[in-house]
Amino acid sequence: MTGPVMLGIETSCDETSVAVLDGDHRILGHVILSQDVHEVYGGVVPELAARQHLVHLDRVVDRALDEAGLDLGRVDALAATAGPGLVGALLVGLGWARAAAVALDRPLVPVHHMEAHLFAPSLEDPEAQPPFVALLVSGGHTLLLHVPEWGRYVLLGETRDDAAGEAFDKVAKLLGLPYPGGRPLSELAAAGDPGAFVFPRPMIRGNQTPDDDGWYDMSFSGLKTAVLQTVEGLRAEGALDARRADVAASFQDAVVDVLVTKTLRAVDDTGCRRVLLGGGVSANRRLRETMAARLGAGGRLFHSSPRLAMDNGAMVARAGRFRLDRGDVAGPDLTARPDLPFPGLARRAG
Ligand code: KG4
Ligand code: ZN
Repeated sequence: MTGPVMLGIETSCDETSVAVLDGDHRILGHVILSQDVHEVYGGVVPELAARQHLVHLDRVVDRALDEAGLDLGRVDALAATAGPGLVGALLVGLGWARAAAVALDRPLVPVHHMEAHLFAPSLEDPEAQPPFVALLVSGGHTLLLHVPEWGRYVLLGETRDDAAGEAFDKVAKLLGLPYPGGRPLSELAAAGDPGAFVFPRPMIRGNQTPDDDGWYDMSFSGLKTAVLQTVEGLRAEGALDARRADVAASFQDAVVDVLVTKTLRAVDDTGCRRVLLGGGVSANRRLRETMAARLGAGGRLFHSSPRLAMDNGAMVARAGRFRLDRGDVAGPDLTARPDLPFPGLARRAG
């Protein structure tokens, strides 16, 4: 074994997850507990999320260690998500990690949740390394980055309103699907015609140039409103049930078209034909297939399996190892921050 054994803890939203990675980044143990209490509310209830983390985290840690066949004492360093996310939820994981780090006399590494998503594909594919253009699409964020090397992140664009995953969740709700809606919506869409309705492709215009502010930025709230109007029209005609799959497919097609078009702009502008997809929405099959097709044979596309695309402790342990190697360990100012700045992020010059 060439490096430290890492324990990674993720509690930023509604997954309680813990992983143990060996010194070569191999996953020895990994447990992801998705909280289902939120489903009846149609969205994550922050206080319930924090309480559920507190109830389950001890057992999730034990199970991950059991799977790894290791005692907690064999862990060399701990990593926990410090932000962005729900502050109460973050504090449970971070507080647990800090107490363990003090008790074991081991370093603690605070991890940025979106940097962790960037590392997830490398856990399954050792070639998923920079340089690449990264599209991070989750329930809370939509970021388009150029990553020349680990730790250096150039922000090209982001959403100006709803995140891509949030748009999936809201449209899923309109169509009567359970929360979180991304996966059920994509399953419904598989039975529909993506050309049935022509929904807007926000922030994509023929006359845009790379100097425009909106060249890489995205926006999904207008698209959601357009879908709402269509759904209401269909409902009034009594035609909604028969057309739900067509609405889902057409909406998904619009979101995917925007995400892929913006990413390919970045590919062309940077000359970097390696693309990495991360975050929960990267589990979307249509997104992966369309990105691969439009990137073409000269490009490389990296993404993780659906299990590692969602929130998980393994990516936190992996990003924590990167930060540990650079000496970025927690100091006395450690705290959970819903708005934690992305480390090493700079806006593109323009
Ligand atoms: O990264 P993630 O697990 O949590 C956050 O950091 O937010 O992403 C969750 C988001 C949710 O909005 C969920 O609906 C979406 O990812 N999602 C999907 C799919 N699977 C999960 N969206 C579209 N298609 C999917 N197959
Ligand atoms: Zn996430």
